[in-house]
Amino acid sequence: NLSGLDLRAEIERLRKERNAVILAHYYQKPEIQDLADFVGDSLELSRKAADTDADVIAFCGVKFMAETAKILSPQKTVILPDMDAGCSLEDSCPPEQFARFRAQHPDHIALTYINCSAAVKALSDIIVTSSSAETIISQIPESQKIIFGPDRHLGGYLNRKFGRDMLLWPGVCIVHEAFSETELLKLKAQHPGAPVAAHPECPPHIVDHADYVGSTSGILQFAKSFPGDTLIVATEPHIIHQMELALPEKTFIGAPGADGNCNCNICPYMALNTMEKLYLALRDLKPRIEMDEELRLAARKSLDRMLEMAS
Ligand code: 13P
Ligand code: SF4
Repeated sequence: NLSGLDLRAEIERLRKERNAVILAHYYQKPEIQDLADFVGDSLELSRKAADTDADVIAFCGVKFMAETAKILSPQKTVILPDMDAGCSLEDSCPPEQFARFRAQHPDHIALTYINCSAAVKALSDIIVTSSSAETIISQIPESQKIIFGPDRHLGGYLNRKFGRDMLLWPGVCIVHEAFSETELLKLKAQHPGAPVAAHPECPPHIVDHADYVGSTSGILQFAKSFPGDTLIVATEPHIIHQMELALPEKTFIGAPGADGNCNCNICPYMALNTMEKLYLALRDLKPRIEMDEELRLAARKSLDRMLEMAS
């Protein structure tokens, strides 16, 4: 029974005792973002995980992110507060099916979104995140044929922006798929002149209304620099916490789903991590990410390509 515990103080104590670093994604609950050593997007969190000299990485995000930390920092203990924190994009792309897709297109390279399993990373040539995809794709010769998975909306966005014809795996993020164009247009009408910032995991009917399209860290940068006083945010709404901390005088509104509010756009996987589970994970050093060394080395190659090409 944890009800009498001061979880924040206990997490502080264990963080020191374990020499742990707490990394959190922008989609985590505000109380977790507030106590993290670092809050960031997928690329920044990968870099932090690769660079840290902590003994333990407590990863407050989803499983593919914690796995990435383990791939880059194998000597560290990597814990994830809830091992069921998955991702609909990862689920859409079983490695055996992805291997068949690759085999059907032997003259294509596989450019793959980081939101996938270690096994799919191992089958890929270059990993991208939403903040590194544009820099990376612009370094690949136009004559090079590409398959892109698992997010068809990010892939479609890149195809349109860079005039490419990458073959797309049909995966989607259930969170970004849930925004409603009709409700977004109603909201824009209520806030004339308010810009829209959208994540490229959104479908085209949302991205087409956006003034800015980019990763979570890109959206946060945009929020810090746009000249108006109200911003409509078309990504998982927990990122608004950072905007409100940085710019308390401005108004940030989460883009709506079909029910007219942004609650259906909370990522159910990210939401599985809680203060209680973070405390228990630091106390018991589990759930822990373990990985077969052969798989880790194979997945590492495509991640290293990303880190080289993104810098
Ligand atoms: P970024 O933070 O890299 O933009 O990724 C968003 C996301 O959906 C992570 O699951
Ligand atoms: Fe996956 Fe979407 Fe959740 Fe990100 S927001 S973890 S892409 S389901």
